[in-house]
Amino acid sequence: MHLVVETTYLSHYLSSHTSVLCSPQWDAITEMDEHNRPIHTFQVCHVMEPNQNNWLRTNWIPRQAAQKIYVELRFTLRDCNSIPWVSGTCKETFNLLYFETDEPQGANAHFHPNDYAKIDTIAADESFTQTDLGDRVLRLNTEVREVGPIARKGFYLAFQDVGACIALVSVRVYYKKCPSTLRNLAAFPDTVPRVDSSSLVEVRGACVENAEERDTPRLYCGADGDWLVPLGRCVCSIGYEENDNLCIEQCGRRILPGFYKAFAGNIKCSKCPPHSSSHTEGSAQCHCEKSYYRTSKDPPTMSCTRLPSSPRNLVFNINETALFLEWTPPSDTGGRKDVTYNVFCFRCGADGQACEPCNSNVRFIPRSTGLTSTSVVVQDFVVHANYTFQIEALNGVSGLGRSERQLANITVSTEQAGPSLVGVVRKDWASQTSIALSWQETEQPHAAILDYEIKYYEKEQEQLSYSSTRTKSPSVIVTGLNPSTVYVFHVRARTIAGYSSYSPKFEFATGDESKLPFPGLKTYIDPDTYEDPSQAVHEFAKEIDPSRIRIERVIGAGEFGEVCSGWLRIPGKKEIPVAIKTLKGGYTERQRRDFLRESSIMGQFDNPNIIRLEGVVTKSRPVMIVVEYMENGSLDSFLRKHDGQFTVIQLVGMLRGIASGMMYLSDIGYVHRDLAARNILVDDNLVCKVSDFGLSRVLEDDPEAAYTTTGGKIPIRWTAPEAIAYRKFSSASDAWSYGIVMWEVMSYGERPYWEMSNQDVILSIEEGYRLPAPMGCPVALHQLMLLCWQKERSRRPQFNDVVSFLDKLICNPSSLLTLVEDVNSFPESPEDMPDYPLFISIGDWLDSIKMSQYKNNFIAAGYTTLDSISTMSIDDVRRIGVSLIGHQRRIVSSIQALRLQFLHVQQNGFHV
Ligand code: ADE
Repeated sequence: MHLVVETTYLSHYLSSHTSVLCSPQWDAITEMDEHNRPIHTFQVCHVMEPNQNNWLRTNWIPRQAAQKIYVELRFTLRDCNSIPWVSGTCKETFNLLYFETDEPQGANAHFHPNDYAKIDTIAADESFTQTDLGDRVLRLNTEVREVGPIARKGFYLAFQDVGACIALVSVRVYYKKCPSTLRNLAAFPDTVPRVDSSSLVEVRGACVENAEERDTPRLYCGADGDWLVPLGRCVCSIGYEENDNLCIEQCGRRILPGFYKAFAGNIKCSKCPPHSSSHTEGSAQCHCEKSYYRTSKDPPTMSCTRLPSSPRNLVFNINETALFLEWTPPSDTGGRKDVTYNVFCFRCGADGQACEPCNSNVRFIPRSTGLTSTSVVVQDFVVHANYTFQIEALNGVSGLGRSERQLANITVSTEQAGPSLVGVVRKDWASQTSIALSWQETEQPHAAILDYEIKYYEKEQEQLSYSSTRTKSPSVIVTGLNPSTVYVFHVRARTIAGYSSYSPKFEFATGDESKLPFPGLKTYIDPDTYEDPSQAVHEFAKEIDPSRIRIERVIGAGEFGEVCSGWLRIPGKKEIPVAIKTLKGGYTERQRRDFLRESSIMGQFDNPNIIRLEGVVTKSRPVMIVVEYMENGSLDSFLRKHDGQFTVIQLVGMLRGIASGMMYLSDIGYVHRDLAARNILVDDNLVCKVSDFGLSRVLEDDPEAAYTTTGGKIPIRWTAPEAIAYRKFSSASDAWSYGIVMWEVMSYGERPYWEMSNQDVILSIEEGYRLPAPMGCPVALHQLMLLCWQKERSRRPQFNDVVSFLDKLICNPSSLLTLVEDVNSFPESPEDMPDYPLFISIGDWLDSIKMSQYKNNFIAAGYTTLDSISTMSIDDVRRIGVSLIGHQRRIVSSIQALRLQFLHVQQNGFHV
């Protein structure tokens, strides 16, 4: 027998030494493989004699820390058909059994087969024949079985042969563990997962040497031996820095080039500060790189710094008496905080040439040099003259690099300021803390508008302080306001010639929803309209302290990280069950933004059929989105699991819930774009809620989304033709997807258009083909689906129509009694019925719907042409031996589709 030992895992091998109990019928045989290497096997092959019962047993295997063990068998098995005269006696399986004990049984102990519990009957995927033997082909099978929980100190494994021809080549016994690891500067020990494969073991880490705990470091050990969901961390203590998950001394004990030791005494050497270097060992100080300086007051530990770049966005605004100059700080402050500004004034000739320094009449408020703010007021200038102003940014090292100074220039003609370019400012909507404004230009400006400045302040606080913000488009969402407060706004445009005058002042109040422009109706705000998307997250999602979250188990994997279930403690209330989406470590800023984007969308919704956002964790790691927990998970898998188990009224109830959620979304102006049963969640009362938000970006996460010729990523089978063709997404395209969801629900999670390719789906929809009614589907529901699938999108029902239609059906259940299979002629699709690719044979047809395994059943029952199956009912399908209800459904639905096609061909002739 082949003996290999893997030490990380509990491993034990059946060996040919004496402790293996082997009834005389099993032989220890050494053979040669095809490369002439010896392989040690145990073999049994009593296929001619009836009633075989031959046992082979391992020696005692200590359990160690295992709770669940895995047994990997490698064996060959002879095909009974290849041995003449053995039918009835020859078998093609053997049994794997085990027996737990606290200690090995003595050498003389009797072997009691009844002590052994069966693990499984093992069959071969590959059996070999006489020809294989001749060709020396070894058809080796590998099978793995799990056993657990194991509670005693050890166990035996046994192999029971009941008449097969077997050669057992190796047996590997192991268990899985999460291996000891270092994560976030904490050490986690070897951990054995729970036997229950869906729950996790929470493990606390111990900080590595020279590190101290911040948030308690934790990891969760998953069933497959993987560490999941790192939480908390340790940090290196003062004087230590992190290197490869350890805290090590800063620079060893050596004084190296690139390091310095500024002071005598028992201190460590340090790396040169940025922009400086030392080239000798034992430097007392590092020298600044070219164009970088250190003032006499800068300590040697400080980075070398350089002169600031020029001030930016220098603009002016002028009235009869005052000229306001304003700029933004340099993009590079040189690495210093002591930036100040000097203003230089020149009076120029008419052509902007021949400039001379301004005379001393021109006044600067507060002054012209050493300014710490980014604006200055100029007074007592000459009217109808040309001036050039230069603004210089300085910092502490400007005196050391005079030749490198950079200035911003602006030329000003002291004509009166032009008219305001901004007309009436309108309030589009307001929330408690935000106001959305928009405006139009009053007249065609002479130069293109570069941007707008919006100045605002609380009316009550006038003159005390004001804020301003900029936008490139003629609209803005001003955030961070106080609730129920009146604000004064005025807006001015900036062109290359400077700012226009301000618009008149407009007063608007923040408020609660009842004061919104359309009473009672909120509008959805696209988080992308925020210049800083994290502002949208804070506006719409509550920040949760992670100590209130208790993660229990991993329930799925999203694009950004694991999805877990757990509990959320809400102060003063009992814990509520939640689902927690996590953002896995090592993310980019863009991934973090895309991940949190869903929360700023979900946080705007408040409807019983939309998944509720509890809050987000953004201030500590891992970043998380916490939503209500839905006990039955996603609708598609839930329906597949309960195939045929609901009444039509229950199914219509689910559809009504989804339509009601969608009605809410379309009312507030949100287009989902990825409505499908997989994106609906179901709670334990069968309430369905729409989930998976994030507009186009959710499609990155949807395995159904495929790239179209226009480059978009779209779930083809669920998407309306105009959205596929030219990305025209709307509530009407959501209505199309809703029709597909209806079909998924009524067929208990069948795949729309079965195994047709995406390309064929697009072509057949274009030609007018529509999905036939699923088996057992009331006519009224299929008609509603067909309405949702009208090519002309304005003719599709709106979600409020769908909700009232379904309500009527629920109130009048007899309307649901007429099933599609009860009516003789099938409802035509709303557009002309086209030709749908015809199958050539029964075999082709069964292949196309992935039911090839039933070819023989059809042929044996005399169904040899496609024509002959067109009248088959579900009972006929059952009668020919298709016993699985899901398979019966798939076959009958496809027959209905074929029948529609036949009808059409009969009426219109067949066109290629
Ligand atoms: N899977 C993803 N989100 C979920 C939720 N909210 N509840 C249950 N399972 C989920």
